[in-house]
Amino acid sequence: MASPITGLLQCDSVTADEDPHDGFDVAAAVLADATADDAADDEPEEVPLELLFEGEVPTARTFALQRLSLEQLGKFVFFDEISVPKGRQGCASCHDPATGWTLRNATVNTGQVAAPGALLGAVGSIKTPSNAYARNIPLQEACAPSQLPCGGLFWDGRAEGDDTPVFGGATTHIGDEVFKGRASLENLFARYLGPLADQATQPFPNPAEQNISEQEVCKHVAKSLYSLLYLLAWGEKIDCSASGFTVSFKRIAVALAAWQSSAEVNSFSSKRDKALAAEIKLEGADVAFPLAGLTDQENRGHDLFYGKAGCALCHDNSPTVPPPDPTTSEGLAAIRRLGLEPDQLYTDAVFHNIGVPENPLIPGPEGSLGLGGRRLEDENLRGQHKTPTLRNVDKRPSKSFVKAYTHNGWFKSLESLVHFYNTADVTGATAAGFGITRCDPSESWTEAQALAANCWPEPEETGTLAIGGFFGDLALSDAEEDAIVAYLKTLTDTKTVKPPLLLQ
Ligand code: HEC
Ligand code: HEC
Repeated sequence: MASPITGLLQCDSVTADEDPHDGFDVAAAVLADATADDAADDEPEEVPLELLFEGEVPTARTFALQRLSLEQLGKFVFFDEISVPKGRQGCASCHDPATGWTLRNATVNTGQVAAPGALLGAVGSIKTPSNAYARNIPLQEACAPSQLPCGGLFWDGRAEGDDTPVFGGATTHIGDEVFKGRASLENLFARYLGPLADQATQPFPNPAEQNISEQEVCKHVAKSLYSLLYLLAWGEKIDCSASGFTVSFKRIAVALAAWQSSAEVNSFSSKRDKALAAEIKLEGADVAFPLAGLTDQENRGHDLFYGKAGCALCHDNSPTVPPPDPTTSEGLAAIRRLGLEPDQLYTDAVFHNIGVPENPLIPGPEGSLGLGGRRLEDENLRGQHKTPTLRNVDKRPSKSFVKAYTHNGWFKSLESLVHFYNTADVTGATAAGFGITRCDPSESWTEAQALAANCWPEPEETGTLAIGGFFGDLALSDAEEDAIVAYLKTLTDTKTVKPPLLLQ
């Protein structure tokens, strides 16, 4: 049987020349001693990192081990159910890898959409987005070339991750206090500070989520089987005393950011990624769509996504504005050279209002103001939500499993959402061609009711619509809508992260 230590560190994010298992047993023996007593009640005990690693001056291998320990600590915390009541909820309860890192509860997705919290009866008020591929989201600043507000995490970007927040932050900000003046830690881990680390401080104390205090989170980790990883990463035992828990809690959040930045969470293992990699191998710099590894329909979907349907105006890290004209041969050739970045995330990280109807089934205050909720006096921000990544939008545990889409989960299928993009402008020719009208505004409508009546309800927020010019009257045929959906389905990762063995 593998020792628990090697079990802990099984991970594909370390390259062969940085094998963390080398020389690890000695360190493990030292640490077994160091963690034998109950860390929670003790004074913090700093262990010089050199001592942990056989008295050598830290080497590249030491650093790789430290970073791996931080990532793996984050992984354990992500899957552990750290909540009040005990064992009821962890990050993975809402961000399930097999469901594209969103809620694995089809009943909730079909009904109230918002995830139930650990506490019986507690519930959120917005749809759970994917937490994967969030690592490259920029700080919230005016973004070139659009100069629109962008970045930060959450649908309204309030986890800004910045020392000088543009919209006033609104979440705890983690700065270099977590390094306690140690340059080696700062050199290694500063890269993980930012929106992801700030975001990770939020779900624990939230009464509608894990409902547990920062100090209790610290104590939980101190007593866990994996607390050794904290010591390996940070070079000292976790300190949960009244004066120490704040920094320890922040260090746990940094670990969550490190794991969410890892190759495990961001595997880039979809059909599109594989087809592209294969083509790059063959063609080098000449690579262009269609890709041999995709079907004709999927390739056609790509061309529509970057051309006629204009999806890439927002679902692209650096949109081409205006999109090339697909009706000319040069335009089509240009479209076929778009979307070839191996690390494409399918989001501009900008805030837009695509006119999602109000969801009568979601709890909480009427409608979500998105970015507008952060600066109530600014009418231009109302209803603007951050463009989500499209990676894993179709990943689900079984074919018939129902997911919910957009910030309030009004949409239940990619088919209906693409149909909406095509026809949302009920005064347009495309809507007329499909016989679509405006649903009676004096009633509230679920997606099922609207589809049955062949109408679209009014948008939740009307003043700031991106509709018109961007979408809503796209003149796509049924077959073209299907091709776009087929393309979206190529963005599903083939790898699915499993919880660590010790927690299963
Ligand atoms: C009860 C369900 C629930 C739990 C538990 C939960 N989340 Fe979330 N998560 C959400 C919801 C809902 C949002 C969106 C909230 C908003 O935008 O206001 C979100 C947003 C996020 C985002 C931002 C994604 C983006 O692109 O903006 C990340 C990252 C994330 N969660 C990570 C985590 C981590 C790490 C944990 C554990 C510490 C966690 N979540 C626990 C439901 C949950
Ligand atoms: C004007 C920018 C813009 C354009 C153009 C656009 N989108 Fe979006 N998309 C967004 C925003 C913003 C959201 C989130 C809106 C919300 O929740 O209110 C979104 C949401 C989505 C979602 C739901 C993802 C989830 O996790 O819930 C999918 C799928 C999607 N878009 C696909 C497309 C496709 C396909 C096209 C082209 C037909 C397209 N989008 C065109 C900005 C855009």
